[in-house]
Amino acid sequence: MDRIRIRGGRQLKGEIVVSGSKNACLPLMVAAMLTDKPLTLKNVPRLADITTMIALLKQHGVEISAAPGENGHSHGTTLTLRADRITSTTAPYDIVRKMRASVLVLGPLVAREGEARVSLPGGCAIGARPVDLHIAGLKAMGAEIEIDGGYMVARAPKGLRGARYTFPKVSVGATENLMMAAALAKGTTVLDNAAREPEITDLAECLSKMGVPILGIGTETLIIEGVEQLKAATHAVVPDRIETGTYAMAIAMTAGDVELVGGRLDLLEAAAQSLRAAGVVLDKTNRGFRVHRANGLHGVDVMTEPYPGFPTDLQAQMMALMTRAEGASMITETIFESRFMHVPELARMGANVTIHHESALVRGVSRLRGADVMATDLRASVSLAIAGLAAEGDTTLHRVYHLDRGYERLEEKLAACGADIERLKG
Ligand code: UD1
Repeated sequence: MDRIRIRGGRQLKGEIVVSGSKNACLPLMVAAMLTDKPLTLKNVPRLADITTMIALLKQHGVEISAAPGENGHSHGTTLTLRADRITSTTAPYDIVRKMRASVLVLGPLVAREGEARVSLPGGCAIGARPVDLHIAGLKAMGAEIEIDGGYMVARAPKGLRGARYTFPKVSVGATENLMMAAALAKGTTVLDNAAREPEITDLAECLSKMGVPILGIGTETLIIEGVEQLKAATHAVVPDRIETGTYAMAIAMTAGDVELVGGRLDLLEAAAQSLRAAGVVLDKTNRGFRVHRANGLHGVDVMTEPYPGFPTDLQAQMMALMTRAEGASMITETIFESRFMHVPELARMGANVTIHHESALVRGVSRLRGADVMATDLRASVSLAIAGLAAEGDTTLHRVYHLDRGYERLEEKLAACGADIERLKG
């Protein structure tokens, strides 16, 4: 298994080009299943999760071709997906267990084919993560769903019908699943307390291009008019705000000075506010924004919340940054119940963090020391890389496959800015 070795102490200088968003791209790819017309996606990041989604969609019968992209600054791929015919309505355990986002095929399959058999995703490193909201929403639209042999088995022989559904809890995945199902349902669907993440907006904009009328884009109430047929469309995936925020924190950690090309500050308001309060300077540029800092870092308190709040997917990275700040920082995780697995690993590098229920109290230390550390999930693993960039000596990050799920060429992007980082194969 690959490892990444980082020798800390180098300041990051230069520029980093932000890739297309993984979390936006996965549902956009699934949206291709709604129609027999082609969907062309530009700015697709080259990531293990995208490869997994390609494998899942292919086994449902979607034809997919890839071409090198020419989208602005980023070198993302262009994918053309065409679901002329759905050849299988089963999403098997072997793929779903690798990537939870596979459950997004449930809504589109039952909407188009009147049936779907999708494996339950099962446990995951960052908490129980049930799918009850996906199921309840589809039931409200007329699907019959039962659990059989570890699979969600859904049926709607006469098709789905538009409905009003109020999410009892904000869920990104369930909002996406229901939006896609609603696109082919008979009549109007109103989704209340819907997630407002930029990835939802990206999906809504793509569905609109595919001919689905949607009102309330960017708000907590989405009104979706079902159509008989969706059209062909071309859509460029929104830049990855989580990758952007991650690099902003890495740059701040090393007191570096880097332009994040394609980075969108407007999608990162809560994180930008916390970074500024911590002493980081973020200046908008023509191509994105520049990150640097004039003075030391101060501890700030952060609480994760649904968008537009501070993203849970940047919590671990912010914690890594706070381990070196002056003073204390209280980091509260309200979205996932066990998302502090990076804490014992950061402690191995000399961080001072105490967990009290859903909060972690980080007391800044004057130095971190390199160590062997274990990645447990995607964002936890990148937080250890951030810590490694500022640690004395060598840090070796094990189980790098977590990182490869969501960060395109991380070691290349950091090395180009002067980091001493390399991938050790095997
Ligand atoms: C997505 C993101 C993930 C991010 C998360 C929260 C993708 C591929 N993944 O995950 O990176 O961390 O949003 O911003 O886009 N919940 C239920 N029942 C459900 C569904 C969710 O109780 O049916 C709970 C979850 O356990 C969690 C909370 O709702 O506590 C939010 O989860 P959700 O927004 O659904 O996350 P994902 O869509 O899985």
